Amino acid sequence: MVPGGVAILDFGSQYNQLIARRIREMGVYCELIPGNAPFSRVLKMRPGALILSGGPSSVYDEDSPHPDPELFETDLPVLGICYGMQLLALHENGRVEGGHDREYGPAELYPEGGAALFKGIGDGLQAWMSHGDRVVEVPEGYRIAAHTDTLPIAAMADTEGQRFGVQFHPEVNHTEFGKQLLENFVFHIAGLSRNWDMKAFRKRIVEMIRHELPVGGKVILGLSGGVDSSVVAALLYEAIPDRFIPIFVDNGLLRKGERESVVKTFRDHFGMPLMVIDGRDDFLRALEGVTDPEKKRKIIGRVFIELFEEASSEIEGVTHLAQGTLYPDVIESVSFRGPSVTIKSHHNVGGLPERMNLKLLEPLRELFKDEVRALGRELGLPELMVARHPFPGPGLAVRILGDVNSGDLKILKEADRIFIDYLLDNDLYNEIWQAFAVLLPVRTVGVMGDQRTYDRVIALRAVTSTDGMTADWYRMAPEHLARISSAIVNRVRGVSRIVYDISSKPPGTIEWE
Ligand code: XMP
Repeated sequence: MVPGGVAILDFGSQYNQLIARRIREMGVYCELIPGNAPFSRVLKMRPGALILSGGPSSVYDEDSPHPDPELFETDLPVLGICYGMQLLALHENGRVEGGHDREYGPAELYPEGGAALFKGIGDGLQAWMSHGDRVVEVPEGYRIAAHTDTLPIAAMADTEGQRFGVQFHPEVNHTEFGKQLLENFVFHIAGLSRNWDMKAFRKRIVEMIRHELPVGGKVILGLSGGVDSSVVAALLYEAIPDRFIPIFVDNGLLRKGERESVVKTFRDHFGMPLMVIDGRDDFLRALEGVTDPEKKRKIIGRVFIELFEEASSEIEGVTHLAQGTLYPDVIESVSFRGPSVTIKSHHNVGGLPERMNLKLLEPLRELFKDEVRALGRELGLPELMVARHPFPGPGLAVRILGDVNSGDLKILKEADRIFIDYLLDNDLYNEIWQAFAVLLPVRTVGVMGDQRTYDRVIALRAVTSTDGMTADWYRMAPEHLARISSAIVNRVRGVSRIVYDISSKPPGTIEWE
């Protein structure tokens, strides 16, 4: 919590995280708060401005979420977006009407009346619309601030220049002047100043960790080598170097060279007291003969917990377990049918804190992924670690289709390494959200020299995405594919054929299992 930021009251629109990102990109702190939360909770954040978000409901629906009426008594500047504008109009005694055709897509917007919100913004620019209901009469003390060819009231402003409503979505990229509009609201109307950058966040979170931990209490962390847990490790080491023990469990299902690189970075470079648990045999044994992907996941989760628990029981005085939970995982959002709380649990260590009677420490819970990367750079983590692709907890076990054994693991690790190194060496890695090799459980006929072979198939997968929820296959140039293919077939024994996955998500998923 940082005073003087923006409280975004969340009424459930799919664009709400984007509003938060836009505000933070301006260097201003913000938080999403359930739209119908008591106003006292909103004020706890000590905000300097309020945004009422969009949402899927109609203001007249019986169970549609409404803000605490106290909100309308506030002196804080208010911007209502879409459903938020309709709420503002309704509660200030204007008129909102349903029953119109749903308008979705771009529209030419014409500001009028010179409202401060549209300062520096031209005429006839594209704005992104997505609404059914519309405001048909502005409340007393308001005037129309913009229209489109089909919508007479596309924006409204009160005469004191403190409350605004826009029917379109300034937070989406399709709204050409959206950034300028939000900046006008935040800086010129609300008069907020920049209070959010990674340097400030680092300092604040380090202080928070020191404050939260009683003297003597120790913190453990399951360090995977991924971006999130690596950043948590660097933060904790800065805050409480003598009371922090990262634990790395080598499950044998990691990429080639992963264990060495984690040891090099955290033990050798940072000097952390890293505990390395060699669980390679435990995992392989538990996975023997298992082919069902969900069973594999469950087994890997269970063995991880067992080994992690055993390792940490050797450390005296542990009071906290740190986790790399991010903001999108903890946002409380209001669903269609009324308020609900959505909290995702972390796949890898679900249930651990309760089992071990530890308190949870989640220093990244206010951050988006790209902010975590920026923080990692600020903390001096190597670029390769900060920019790396996501990697699933169950690792290569879900990239070897069928049962997992040491021979297949060796083949996949080699092929995957060649693929990833090629992408790094040819500046393709950062264009891709996630890339990896998959070992298929089939044999195909081939020839090598004069010999007929009957060897395995490797599938290469590379996708672009912004959040992993949807993805498209990366259009890799044929010459790159040709070089990667021959490098793998020439250098990895047991592989004679390479295929490239051209499925998008949906209907496919990113992983094959
Ligand atoms: P899918 O395959 O569902 O993957 O399109 C979406 C993202 O999630 C990752 N993934 C996992 N991560 N444990 C994890 O920690 C898992 O069991 C798991 N399954 C998929 C996947 O790599 C992609 O980034």
